[in-house]
Amino acid sequence: EQTLRAAAAERGFDVGAAVDADALATDPSYRRRLAREFTAVTPENALKMGPLRPSPDTYDFGDADAVVGFARAHDMRVRGHTLVWHNQTPSWFRPWEYTDDEIGEFLRTHVHTVAGRYRSAIDTWDVVNEAVADDGEMRETVWYDALGEEYLDLAFGWADEVAPDADLYYNDYGADAVNGKSDAVYDLLSRLLGRGVPVDGVGLQLHALGDWPDPDSVAENVARFRDLGLDVEITEMDVAFPAGEAPPDALARQADYYAEVVETCLDAGVDSLTVWGVDDARTWLRSFREFPERYTGDPLLFDDAGDPKPAYHAVRDAL
Ligand code: XIL
Repeated sequence: EQTLRAAAAERGFDVGAAVDADALATDPSYRRRLAREFTAVTPENALKMGPLRPSPDTYDFGDADAVVGFARAHDMRVRGHTLVWHNQTPSWFRPWEYTDDEIGEFLRTHVHTVAGRYRSAIDTWDVVNEAVADDGEMRETVWYDALGEEYLDLAFGWADEVAPDADLYYNDYGADAVNGKSDAVYDLLSRLLGRGVPVDGVGLQLHALGDWPDPDSVAENVARFRDLGLDVEITEMDVAFPAGEAPPDALARQADYYAEVVETCLDAGVDSLTVWGVDDARTWLRSFREFPERYTGDPLLFDDAGDPKPAYHAVRDAL
């Protein structure tokens, strides 16, 4: 039987997975599955500011280097995630102890250091993650409070300075279909492009949790971003039912939805889809905040034992 990786490669389509650095370090079967079945990886946490920066004067690139090295050894693409985000900042970083200028300088150093280090290994970066709030206003983050909307201009500019060949993405959740939030993301990206900011693409996370974005509306949304001149990737897909409400044919319905999204990508000019984890045993839905009570914990392509699910076959056969 053809692997998912082979089917994707034949189509010129990337199928990536978010990678758990601990699993990569400790579980040979995880490593085998990852290299055999996927064409791309995104470090799930290792490139975020908190994990990278245990103390003010040190960087710990160990986990990120391990994921990037694995990808290189197995000829896989790497999505860098993420340079600028309001979550998972270091616990020692107490913004109220900094002036606005110092926060700008802090962020500049971070972007230069991290994007610069991986300039030859990472060809796509989520430069800014989740800058728009659910109501469509700019999210009031530490970066926004100190620098205003210009923090995006600065971050993309700094990334472009040290990694001029990389594709620079804006990434967000809940902006997959045409809705109020994706309208706001569209407006934000229009403003950035209007100001000459070097943004190349938009990442749609596509966490289908309880509410599954309508594929036709996703297609329409992708088309408008592409009309702006941006590339679009699906960056963090997983598919779950509300807890306790999974129908008897849940796995088949999940598989159908995955296939519909892949078909939408192929029709709409999206050439990369990343799932947010390799196997259900390690999905973030089983550990993140109140998610275990809210959603079923089996959103991925491989089950707890690491065996392919109907969703795996559906994605492969859709390619
Ligand atoms: C999640 C990881 O999967 C978890 O392990 C971590 O505890 C929290 O972050 N949107 C994003 C990702 O952009 O970085 C998040 O990843 C999931 C939501």
